[in-house]
Amino acid sequence: MEISTRRLLLREYGPGDLDAVHAFASDPVVCAFAEWGPNTPQDTAAFLEECAVEQVAVPRKTWTFAIVWGGSVIGSVALMTGKSDLVHEPGEAELGYVLHRNAWGNGYAAETAEALLAWAGGHLGITRVVATCRPENTGSVRVLEKIGMQQVDHLHEHKRIDGKTRDSLVFAGLLPVGEPAGTSAG
Ligand SMILES: CC(C)(COP(=O)(O)OP(=O)(O)OC[C@H]1O[C@@H](n2cnc3c(N)ncnc32)[C@H](O)[C@@H]1OP(=O)(O)O)[C@@H](O)C(=O)NCCC(=O)NCCS
Repeated sequence: MEISTRRLLLREYGPGDLDAVHAFASDPVVCAFAEWGPNTPQDTAAFLEECAVEQVAVPRKTWTFAIVWGGSVIGSVALMTGKSDLVHEPGEAELGYVLHRNAWGNGYAAETAEALLAWAGGHLGITRVVATCRPENTGSVRVLEKIGMQQVDHLHEHKRIDGKTRDSLVFAGLLPVGEPAGTSAG
């Protein structure tokens, strides 16, 4: 399963991706607003094992893809359809993404999210997507706005991260259901 965008390739993870994933997942700056990380090598290995498990799950609930630019893994994107505090109905999914710091500021996150959501609308029947981010994560807020999502909630003291309570902004968007472009089965 692969999705091509203008500049990027989204593909399933494999065991050979450990070093590339660890390069961004162990970076404290990259993880500053995340609930996870900075990863130990064991954390990153466990993440790739989880990806391997989800790839063969029936029914599959989570699609986590490597974001590849010029043959190198520069980040990760995930679409989660399992029920959660934000995903209640079939046809809904939660979106998340992370990029290596060197890849920021090129529009890659928005390009990735748009392609993944187009694929999810066409192949998974996803019609509504949700995402959360910390209010101070202005880059992520901007990505969600750029792909047409709107803030629908501000959850005060939503999560406890590193011993501190944190607010979350909730974004949502409706997807057009249609034929996805640039995808191929593999
Ligand atoms: C959030 C993240 C994925 C954005 O990736 P990116 O490829 O740089 O995003 P894009 O280039 O598509 O868009 C970023 C937008 O935010 C803006 N932006 C980035 N940092 C900003 C900041 N500190 N203040 C204001 N705007 C900012 C950029 O100018 C750009 O907007 P523009 O296209 O209108 O100029 C990346 O910074 C990242 O991986 N962060 C760490 C992980 C993370 O926070 N993930 C999201 C968890 S909710």
